[in-house]
Amino acid sequence: MANDASAVFDTLSPAVSRGSLADSFTPPADSTLWRKNFLLGAATASYQIEGAVNEDGRLPSIWDTFSAIPGKVLAGDTGAVACDHYHRWEADVEMLASLGLEGYRLSIAWPRVMDAAGVPNRKGLDFYKRLLNRLKEKGITTFVTLYHWDLPQHLEDRGGWLNRDTAYRFADYADLMSRELAGTVDAWATLNEPWCSAYLGYGNGHHAPGLADDRFATQAMHHLLLAHGFAVPVLRANDPASQKGIVANIGRGTPNSNSAADQRAAHLFEVQHNAWILDPLLKGAYPQDLFELWPGTEPLVLEGDMQTISAPLDFLGINYYFRTNVASDGAHGFRDVPLEGVERTQMGWEVYPDGLRDLLTGFKKTYHNLPPIYITENGMASDDQVTDGHVEDTQRISFLKRHLAAVDQAIKAGVDIRGYFLWSLMDNFEWAFGYERRFGVVHVDYSTQKRTIKRSAELVAKFLKERKARA
Ligand code: FCB
Repeated sequence: MANDASAVFDTLSPAVSRGSLADSFTPPADSTLWRKNFLLGAATASYQIEGAVNEDGRLPSIWDTFSAIPGKVLAGDTGAVACDHYHRWEADVEMLASLGLEGYRLSIAWPRVMDAAGVPNRKGLDFYKRLLNRLKEKGITTFVTLYHWDLPQHLEDRGGWLNRDTAYRFADYADLMSRELAGTVDAWATLNEPWCSAYLGYGNGHHAPGLADDRFATQAMHHLLLAHGFAVPVLRANDPASQKGIVANIGRGTPNSNSAADQRAAHLFEVQHNAWILDPLLKGAYPQDLFELWPGTEPLVLEGDMQTISAPLDFLGINYYFRTNVASDGAHGFRDVPLEGVERTQMGWEVYPDGLRDLLTGFKKTYHNLPPIYITENGMASDDQVTDGHVEDTQRISFLKRHLAAVDQAIKAGVDIRGYFLWSLMDNFEWAFGYERRFGVVHVDYSTQKRTIKRSAELVAKFLKERKARA
């Protein structure tokens, strides 16, 4: 995909200037975002920010292994130091609180908290206890993801998500965490983006562990969803007061033409991106069209699995970034047809807020049991520079404003959306793209670990302050 997004943006948004954006960032008076109970927060993930990969008994994860292989991550970057959050967490919580952010979504590093025999690692557990206690002292709502991709390497050595046993090990891990952390977690998410774990990890090899076979992807997905299903009742038993859910990344597929073949291609794009995960969770069955797209990839499903996977949820976390324009590949699938002249980000991803609204309103029609929704990630990367102590992340300000407007539209159309987390609190290790892609509303200078609040974060803070004052 094209990467020179800034040039496109400049031509599309000539009127955007510091002043006009600042004035217009605040939502209109009739926006549902003014409701005090609409939670506004920021998100991060363990491997992307913590660093300290060899400290206090942390075991290797699949991302330590994967990022050490030359050519897997841009510039050979790894999460070994990242934002050094493991040591700087106190200052980072202060920063979060100083911005007035009401919620914080973090993830726990599984390899930090228990060993291969399931023995708890007290030092690792204490880190999360201290962090969560401090967040609660600050009055911040805590969303904790159990699995944001850093699988212990010893489990991958035994087949990882291709091995059904990993789902049982995940339930043990969920049991330990919910016994230890009950009372400090407002909402538990079992998995972050099983699509990425299964497809990018086992289907095309773009992410750890780097395997590439469609049959692996569907089997890994089944075991991931099963892990989720095993964990939910455990979390309910150990920590009844908290909410339990899962986080899915959703993608909008649009047809390149009105032809029936292209419309079918767009449908299949969304089947593999959305229905592959949401149908088993909310309907208790895999979409059959998936196996038209990837023939012969039906996973091994045992009796009772689908009931386990489709147990009721308290919330569904939704991550949204961009759309994909597709055409028929002439056979039974789709191919990407990148549009020209559209606004893109540093990732090359198209800025397309309507996709978020349209997917949300579509899900409400498709799933009669759609749980309350939190947007658990939304944001964009730009090549942000610090100039005289400031970061003018103009495109991000406009991006956030337009996506928040899309959320407001979906709420007004009847979708129960209760909050929104910016991705991300700070620049961090962006997986296969390393440190080059900056998604934070806070800038991180990786040579000094200095944090600089970007203009976008200042404006979000300003809005939150205004909202608080009005309440
Ligand atoms: C999502 C991931 C998150 C981050 C953003 C940009 O897929 O959940 O960790 O990398 O993309």
